[in-house]
Amino acid sequence: SEGKLQLVHRHIRAFPDFPKKGILFRDICPILKSPAALTAVIDLFEERVRSHHLQVDLIVGLDARGFLFGPLLAQRLGVGFVLVRKKGKLPGPTTCVKYDLEYGTAEAETQEDAVAPGQKVLIIDDLLATGGTLYAACELMKKQQAQIQGCMVIIELKDLNGADRLKPHSVFSLLQY
Ligand code: PRP
Repeated sequence: SEGKLQLVHRHIRAFPDFPKKGILFRDICPILKSPAALTAVIDLFEERVRSHHLQVDLIVGLDARGFLFGPLLAQRLGVGFVLVRKKGKLPGPTTCVKYDLEYGTAEAETQEDAVAPGQKVLIIDDLLATGGTLYAACELMKKQQAQIQGCMVIIELKDLNGADRLKPHSVFSLLQY
């Protein structure tokens, strides 16, 4: 039967010149539309956690597509899920970090009570490009004194060297382009 990775690979589309000219956009929507492909993603993430004996107290998901996969993995592992959002969306006391985008800067935010000091977190997003977004999430988790167990994504764009930016934290990706 078809392998899980191959199944996932078959459910990623590429759109040239989106959101702007020169960018080849990797679209994960077909994964969500296919119960089998979505299950395969979560199976592969879960297998990674278990094979590497990662201790995880919480899954941290990144705005916006980390919210689609993170809670499913959290349920598999029997742990909670917390959100890192773009600034201004979360109520109550929050922790915030600025980060660089291709043009200009952005801010990522999490609720102060999202993570307790010492909790072990695994950070999830759909895609690693320059690493700016995951780096910001790692900085937020450091501010909250979390123990970062690593980052996991479906897609890693190798040419952009995002993994280097995240060192010493490790990134696990299902597919590399
Ligand atoms: C995409 C992607 C990651 C981020 C990766 O999100 O889903 O979150 O970019 O890029 P980086 O590694 O260079 O930081 P996008 O900017 O499209 O925002 P969205 O999730 O709100 O659509």
